[in-house]
Amino acid sequence: MITLITAGPTQEAIDPVRYLTNRSSGKMGYALAKAAARRGDRVILISGPTNLDIPENVDFIPVESAEDMYHTVEKYISRSDIAIFAAAVADYRPANLEKQKIKKDSDTLTLELIKTKDILGSVRKIFNYTGTLVGFAAETNNVEENARKKLEKKGCDFLVANDVSRKDIGFDSNENEVFVLTKNGRQDLPKDSKEHLAEHLIKIFR
Ligand code: CTP
Repeated sequence: MITLITAGPTQEAIDPVRYLTNRSSGKMGYALAKAAARRGDRVILISGPTNLDIPENVDFIPVESAEDMYHTVEKYISRSDIAIFAAAVADYRPANLEKQKIKKDSDTLTLELIKTKDILGSVRKIFNYTGTLVGFAAETNNVEENARKKLEKKGCDFLVANDVSRKDIGFDSNENEVFVLTKNGRQDLPKDSKEHLAEHLIKIFR
């Protein structure tokens, strides 16, 4: 079994010293990579910049921007039986990359942003992927409704949803509480360490 996982945030450069990013530690994606590797899968972990140690026994491919992550997923996804999109990809990037550091000459600064490519949204339609597809949704309101829309729109078999408005779970936390949507159902997993949740999730996806 070959499992492809995206994890961590992406960084979208503004100038040589600055970037836009999302809040994401990468912990959930790395925990999933470890859990899949422990089950004997070959794991391809495509990760934005994080402070985490590279898990053992995975093929690790570091990327920076959403554009890098898109092309890396495009290159490797057809080899995988299951693809799990746990990365917090930046939805917008600066329209122009300034070659020189921007100086603070003016009191206000306006950045023009353009949409990045939706990687998960391209998997079925553009990459013609036929394996098991797992998306994540980080929501602050109408969590189930928004997550269900994502499941359908992006052609996922499973959608792992969490409420990021809660301070005790998610993001930098070592714990999380999620539910898993499928076309016809919902399964709630109790609050647990990301390591334990990852073990549970990997079992659910196969
Ligand atoms: N995702 C992706 N590429 C992007 C944006 C998101 O692959 N450019 C993936 C994430 O890894 C996650 C899922 O899409 O698995 C949901 O991401 P999210 O940002 O919550 O969904 P969006 O469709 O961007 O919806 P919105 O931001 O409007 O809630």
